Amino acid sequence: MKISFVLNGVSKSLEIADGNTPLIWVIRDILDLKGTKFGCGKAACGACTLHVDGNAIRSCSYPIQLVEGKQITTIEGLGNEENPHPVQQAWVEEIVPQCGYCQPGFMMATAALLDKNPAPTDEDIDNAITNVCRCATYYRMRKAIHRAAE
Ligand code: FES
Repeated sequence: MKISFVLNGVSKSLEIADGNTPLIWVIRDILDLKGTKFGCGKAACGACTLHVDGNAIRSCSYPIQLVEGKQITTIEGLGNEENPHPVQQAWVEEIVPQCGYCQPGFMMATAALLDKNPAPTDEDIDNAITNVCRCATYYRMRKAIHRAAE
């Protein structure tokens, strides 16, 4: 089947054999954007989080056929070194990452949260961001989220 969507502001049209293919594998293996990470594969850890039409979704469990006509943003499209997104800038300033593997997913989840709730409380953050960090950088992430919200 043919799937058309916009990825980080660029129109894409792909021929996909199986519409149930998880979005993460199209992003990583076909479109070669490696910032979206694979963790559990069961929509539990959030490492694979990206945006579809501005909503944070877990791409390991999101069939590619659902993105027809939609806007996808990955960590590569959120910002870059020259022009970082406020969430990326706050992550740097608070020196959040330890191993770093899960951090793109957290930043994507945070960006989506701040779009909807520009001044979240700690409780809002805990309710909205249920990703998992095995290095337990949660305290620094919370500080970075508040910094990004300033
Ligand atoms: Fe998708 Fe864990 S890899 S939620």
